Amino acid sequence: MDPPRTSHLSPRKKRPRQMGALMASSPQDIKFQDLVVFILEKKMGTSRRAFLTELARRKGFRVENELSDSVTHIVAENNSGSDVLEWLQVQKIQASSQPELLDVSWLIECIGAGKPVEMTGKHQLVVGRDYSDSTNPGPLKTPPIAVQKISQYACQRRTTLNNFNQIFTDAFDILAENCEFRENEDSCLTFMRAASVLKSLPFTIISMKDTEGIPCLGSKVKGIIEEIIEDGESSEVKSVLNDERYQSFKLFTSVFGVGLKTSEKWFRMGFRTLSKVRSEKSLTFTRMQRAGFLYYEDLVSCVTRAEAEAVSVLVKEAVWAFLPDAFVTMTGGFRRGKKMGHDVDFLITSPGSTEDEEQLLQKVMNLWEKKGLLLYYDLVESTFEKLRLPSRKVDALDHFQKCFLIFKLPRQRLDSDQPSWQEGKTWKAIRVDLVMCPYERRAFALLGWTGSRFERDLRRYATHERKMILDNHALYDKTKRMFLKAESEEEIFAHLGLDYIEPWERNA
Ligand code: CTP
Ligand code: MN
Ligand code: MN
Repeated sequence: MDPPRTSHLSPRKKRPRQMGALMASSPQDIKFQDLVVFILEKKMGTSRRAFLTELARRKGFRVENELSDSVTHIVAENNSGSDVLEWLQVQKIQASSQPELLDVSWLIECIGAGKPVEMTGKHQLVVGRDYSDSTNPGPLKTPPIAVQKISQYACQRRTTLNNFNQIFTDAFDILAENCEFRENEDSCLTFMRAASVLKSLPFTIISMKDTEGIPCLGSKVKGIIEEIIEDGESSEVKSVLNDERYQSFKLFTSVFGVGLKTSEKWFRMGFRTLSKVRSEKSLTFTRMQRAGFLYYEDLVSCVTRAEAEAVSVLVKEAVWAFLPDAFVTMTGGFRRGKKMGHDVDFLITSPGSTEDEEQLLQKVMNLWEKKGLLLYYDLVESTFEKLRLPSRKVDALDHFQKCFLIFKLPRQRLDSDQPSWQEGKTWKAIRVDLVMCPYERRAFALLGWTGSRFERDLRRYATHERKMILDNHALYDKTKRMFLKAESEEEIFAHLGLDYIEPWERNA
């Protein structure tokens, strides 16, 4: 056993305050004498703090490098009032006069105005994390803003890519993946839901007290959180990462076309490396797996946004050559604002005639093949039926016509040089998914293909809370016994009685 590490999260341990090379302003530069600002580095980072300090000082604000008695305004970013108070308590120097606890937006507005602006509720940081009580009197003199109860459904939470609990969510993502490899669905779901709810929190969990009132955190999950708070890591995660089965499955499933069944087979046969698998004469591979091995290096290196945009231009060019009125939308992770993806997903739909639509994907494939832009493709024909009820299974595949392919992206199609492209490399293999849907189903398809756990919870919510069935094709109201039409994602949320959640808030 390793000796327990002291967590950098542990509130007991005092962290050294890094001041960097911040220079204090000389007294004559200060325009607003009775305002003494201290900017909290925690979660903001050294460089942003230095940048804001510099800007504020240029405008005549007194910004202190060190926390002292004289500080009147403490400015923080991505911290709640409780976070700041907790941080203050750990510091040896106590601010004796109760300073104002403010969000960085206040300082930015002051800098913009060139003078102190009025502090309103939107600037003041919330103290106390009571998710059920909107009139929680915190220890602050400022009135706390009402904090809503966190829903057990991801579709009732806003989850941006700004994850304050990555140390915990990484752990649960690994545990969930391990359960998936072991086909332990219940535990997989438990860990996925825990990771998902933690990703939506606007603060970092630093003590077990912070987990109170948060749904989807059972005793098993809480035990892991506690261990990470205390030791900085989870022994269970550590043993999963060292587990031979986990490592092998992780490796095997990184090959395009290799799923759990194939991984299981190779693992049982005693394979532990890809080179051994590839050189084994007795094994036969599918066409998809052969392509997966052939372009392995490119496909495991993630797709950047610049690459996705370049692919997008080419997809639109090709689609519009045959269907000029078609709508082409990038969906999946990139629509949710991710900077990297494992593939690029597109939804294509056209208000025009359905016959042209049916031929479109094949025509695009033929065109790309002729141009040498296609390394692999698998066209799946539509099994869509207008009157079919939506599927109750949250992870059921849809019935639209689609194409899973590997695109050969030429370097000259990129606007800027990409760090992942070595010199001399003239093209990169990129996984692309194209989906074609009937025009009147585009809102459902878009919602479904924008994805993440969010979308699964939306379907779960529809079933359990609204007696409706939602999938990538339609929304059916069981009480009214009718399909509910929608022209946009907003309308689907409205049918479900939910507040609209933007795509970049769906990173559950
Ligand atoms: N999807 C689907 N049917 C498939 C494959 C994918 O409905 N046969 C949906 C998934 O449910 C998901 C979305 O398409 O909601 C995007 O899937 P995917 O590309 O796998 O994930 P991303 O969220 O885009 O993440 P990444 O960046 O890793 O690609
Ligand atoms: Mn994707
Ligand atoms: Mn995809």
